[in-house]
Parts: sequence; C-alpha cells; structure tokens
Amino acid sequence: MISFSVVIAAIAAVVVFWFFQTSKTRQYKRIPGPTGIPILGNILQLGKQMHVQFNKWSNQYGDIYEVKLGTQRTVIISNPKWIKEIFATDPIFSGRMRIESFEMYPNESMSLGIVSSEGEFWETHRHFLLKQLRTFGFGKSCMEQLVLEEVQEVIERFKKTEGKPINDLKTVFILAVINSLWTILTSKRFNHDDPKLHTLVANLNKVLFDLAERGGMLIFMPWVGHLMPEWSGYNKIRKVIEDNKSFFEEAVNEHKENFQEDNIKDFIDVFLNETNKTTDSSSPFYGERAEHQLVATLGDMFGAGTDTTSTTLSWGILYITKFAGVQDKLQQEIKTVTENSRNVSLNDRPSMPYTTALIDEILRYSSITPGGVQHRATEDKEFKGYLIEKDTWIFPNLHHLHHNPAIWGDPETFRPERFLTEDGKFKKNENLIPFQIGRRQCVGESLARNTIFLFLANIFRSFTISFDPSAPEPSLDPVGLILTPQPFSVVMKERS
Ligand code: HEM
Ligand SMILES: *[C@@H]1O[C@H](CO)[C@@H](O)[C@H](O)[C@H]1NC(C)=O
Ligand SMILES: *[C@@H]1O[C@H](CO)[C@@H](O)[C@H](O)[C@H]1NC(C)=O
Ligand SMILES: *[C@@H]1O[C@H](CO)[C@@H](O)[C@H](O)[C@H]1NC(C)=O
Ligand SMILES: *[C@@H]1O[C@H](CO)[C@@H](O)[C@H](O)[C@H]1NC(C)=O
Ligand SMILES: *[C@@H]1O[C@H](CO)[C@@H](O)[C@H](O)[C@H]1NC(C)=O
Repeated sequence: MISFSVVIAAIAAVVVFWFFQTSKTRQYKRIPGPTGIPILGNILQLGKQMHVQFNKWSNQYGDIYEVKLGTQRTVIISNPKWIKEIFATDPIFSGRMRIESFEMYPNESMSLGIVSSEGEFWETHRHFLLKQLRTFGFGKSCMEQLVLEEVQEVIERFKKTEGKPINDLKTVFILAVINSLWTILTSKRFNHDDPKLHTLVANLNKVLFDLAERGGMLIFMPWVGHLMPEWSGYNKIRKVIEDNKSFFEEAVNEHKENFQEDNIKDFIDVFLNETNKTTDSSSPFYGERAEHQLVATLGDMFGAGTDTTSTTLSWGILYITKFAGVQDKLQQEIKTVTENSRNVSLNDRPSMPYTTALIDEILRYSSITPGGVQHRATEDKEFKGYLIEKDTWIFPNLHHLHHNPAIWGDPETFRPERFLTEDGKFKKNENLIPFQIGRRQCVGESLARNTIFLFLANIFRSFTISFDPSAPEPSLDPVGLILTPQPFSVVMKERS
C-alpha cells in the first residue's frame, strides 16, 4: 500500500517537474552547444589546450553556447557587447562558485576572501580593498619606488650573468612580483635568496602545473579529489594551501602583536584597525571570522597577482625579442625620453605611446586567462532571450574576442601599432579586456599595468636581448591553465 502511493507520488512529481521544466524553457531560445556524455559532459572533447576547442566552438556556435564541464552547466559568451553587458549590469551574474577543497577555511559557512566571496559581504570588502589599495600603493608613487627597487634587483642579477644564457626568467619575475606585493601588503621585503620566499614560489609552480596536467579535473569534478585524494593531486594541493595559510597567519599575528592605532603602516594594519568596530555579524570585519577573512584575502591577492603578472612579463620578453623591429622601436622611445641616463618612471608613460601600445598588444596576443574567470548565476535569469539557469557558470571567451578577425583584421600579427593613431598617439581599444570587465573586474589592474611598464621599460633600457643561439627557436605555443610560454633561453647584452 505504502509503496503504491510512493510510486504514484513519484510519477506525479516527475510529470509536474517535466511540465515545469518545459514551460520554463518554452518561452526561451535554446542555447546551442556540442553534445556531451553523462557525468563527464564535454570534458573529453577539450583536449590538452582547452582554449583551442573553446575557440572552435565559438566560431561554430557564435555569440553564446553551452557545454557541460563534468556535470557543471557552463555558458561561453563570445559577443563583445554581450560580455560587457552580462558582467556589468546584473548582480545575479556576478556570483562565484564555491570549491571548498581549494579554500583556506573550508569549514566556514561561506567563501571568504575576495576572489570567491559573494553578495553584500564581497561588495563591502571589495569596496574597502580598492580604497585601501589606492592609499597604500596601487597607483601611488610609494608603490612605484617599491617596484623600481625590485626592477633594480633583477637588473643586477642579469648583469652578473651577462652574455650567458638565462633560462629561468619566469622565476626571476615571480620573485620580484611577490616581493613588491608583499611589501605593499605587509611593509616587509624578502631577500631574493630567502628560502621561505623560494618555498612559496615552488608551491605556486607545483600547484599550477599539477592542475593543468589533470585538465583542471579538480575544479570541474571536485568529487574525484575526495575519492582519489592521492592520484588526483588533492592531497598535494591541500598541503600547499595549509603551508601558505600558516605563512600569511604568521604575518597577521606579527602585526597584531605590534599593532598601534596611531601608526598604521600597511594593508594588514588598516584591516585590523577596522575589526573591533562592528556589531554587524554579516560584516567582513566581524568577530573571529575577520581574521580568517584577512588571511584569505592575502592569499587571494598573491594567488591572483603573482603568476598572472610574471607570466605576462615572460611573454613580453619573448615577443619583444622575437618580432622584428619591436625591440628597436621600444629602445628608441626609451632613449628619447630618458637619454638612457635615468630610470624610466610612471611619469614618463604619457610621453611613451609606443611602449603603452606594446603592453596592450602583449596583453591581447597572450590572453593568458583565455576564458577570463568564470562567474556563477545566483538565480534563474533571462539574458538576450536565453534562460541562464541558477548555478550556471559564465565564461567570457576573452581569447576569442582578442583574436577575432572581424574586430582586429590581422589578429595573428603582433603589431603594437594597432593601438596607435596615424600620428603616433596611443589609442585605446574598447575590445581589449584582459582584466575582464564589470562588477568583478580585476582589482590589481593598475598595479599589474604599472609593474609591467616599469619592468619592461627599464630592462630594455639596460639590456639588448637575443635568443640563446645554442638553444632551439622558442615556441609561441602556450602551456598551462594560465597560458604560459614554454621555457626559453635568452642572452642579455648590457647597453652602454
Ligand atoms: C597581467 C596581470 C593580471 C591579469 C591578466 C588579471 C586578470 C584578471 C581577471 C580576468 C579577473 C577576473 C575578473 C572577473 O571575474 O570578472 C581578475 C580578478 C582579480 N584579480 Fe587580476 N589579473 C592580473 C593581475 C592581478 C594583480 C597584480 C592582482 C593583485 C594584486 C590581481 C587581483 C585580482 C583579484 C583580487 C581578483 C578578483 C576580483 C573579484 O572577484 O572581485 N590581479 N584578474
Ligand atoms: C574542517 O572540519 C573537519 C571535520 O571536523 C576537520 O577534519 C578538518 O581538519 C577541518 N579543516 C580545517 C581546515 O580546519
Ligand atoms: C580588538 O579587541 C581585542 C580584545 O578586546 C584586543 O585585544 C585587540 O587589541 C583589539 N584589536 C585592535 C586591532 O584594536
Ligand atoms: C583607525 O580607526 C580609527 C577609529 O575608528 C579611525 O579614526 C582611523 O581613521 C583609522 N585609521 C586608518 C588608517 O584607517
Ligand atoms: C601559495 O602562495 C603562492 C605565493 O604567495 C600563491 O601564488 C599561490 O597561489 C598559493 N597557492 C595556493 C594553492 O593557495
Ligand atoms: C633606478 O632606481 C633604483 C631604485 O630606486 C636605484 O637603485 C637605481 O640607482 C636607479 N637607476 C638609475 C640609473 O638612476
């Protein structure tokens, strides 16, 4: 008797669900996309370089298409106007997914930090962070001095190896970028030989390459991590996260011990200064959670800022050395502005249109985050006549946008001049959005742009760079989840 009514109830539920589903979708256009298989979805179709397949589908399906990453419903948007619209306007499209296994505090009731937090909590914190970063360095002259000191250290290092092949540029840049970020956030600096610093760098490299090798499986199918923690790399990643966490916790504890309200030195101090003032339990500064929030934020800034900036610098060196005429024009402009007798500074940028255009071309050509960073729809919501269901991931296909012939004409040619007017002035192009756009746009954009400018201009002020003649010609094909150059070897020649 019981089982009979259960069956009836189940059938009724299925009918109601089916009716609800079809009536819900009937009024919307169907989102096109490739057919996948159960559980894995379209993952087996992705290949080693996911962005290549995503671009093929963008060409095939156009403005919007849907794939399944594992069981995760995902839409990819390729139309530039739609990308701007969907991320700029509606907070419903500005959520993030939660992946506990990558978090420092998986036991908290929600994602902490800035990259994966959501809602009002995220909005309040992001607002505070942007304000403080303007005060403590991002876009300010004290930041410039910090970065120039790192540049100087890199230049000294290159001088020591002058004439000999250098094949670890990426590591050199990571050290320098981590250090300037660390100084801005904590007002301390590492020595480049500090073993602690090297552990952080090694951790970063290990995690990213392990992830790329398993095709981002832990992101798309988190349950694999719990079923096969060793094989899937889950245990390794947990260990690195715990290592990192204790590193940042130490910095926070040190600041707490020495905290003086009348001597606020850096970002950690200013955050601590906010913590005892609120009774609002939803605030990022509330109670014991505030300290976790601070540590998670520090982790996020490093996670989001170091590999991206140093990878872009590596591409910069590769392109400038590879493409005929670029290095000459860059050095010509540096000479006109500084007579090669002083450091290039941020104040020189307005009179350096070629260098400014060159950096935009490096960002466009490399498009290191090819699908940007995905957002999550927090509710069912219509967009352009399509239904974007709750919990769908939304990717902007930035690589496709930046290499679309309809927009750029000759996208596969490396040509900084595309960002210059005929009389040589810098010309911004609205379709270049390497930092994404809208409500969650990269908070480190100005720091990244300043860092890249100061590094490239001052390195090429000091050296002429060529490829190591004893090594094979470097490849332009990227590897990794963040598109990274394959290792290459250069020779520096000091300029007189
Ligand atoms: C060339 C260098 C960089 C590139 C290409 C880059 C790119 C991006 C992209 C595509 C996003 C996603 C935006 C979105 O979800 O809508 C992002 C977010 C973010 N970036 Fe960057 N970034 C760079 C450097 C930095 C630096 C130097 C920092 C910090 C010091 C940083 C901190 C962040 C943070 C915290 C977020 C999350 C913002 C949020 O969710 O509210 N990034 N970045
Ligand atoms: C989270 O809670 C579980 C179970 O109580 C515990 O085993 C684990 O160590 C906790 N994780 C962290 C990072 O605190
Ligand atoms: C916050 O309050 C605690 C305990 O009341 C105190 O020990 C700590 O110094 C305060 N922190 C700051 C940053 O004022
Ligand atoms: C620290 O907190 C005090 C008290 O709320 C405030 O007056 C002061 O402006 C804060 N300092 C900074 C640097 O934010
Ligand atoms: C560990 O720290 C490094 C350097 O601060 C950071 O870039 C990296 O993303 C962190 N790794 C994880 C898994 O949090
Ligand atoms: C450039 O700046 C660095 C750091 O402030 C300084 O050590 C170096 O002497 C400067 N170089 C020149 C050529 O002025």
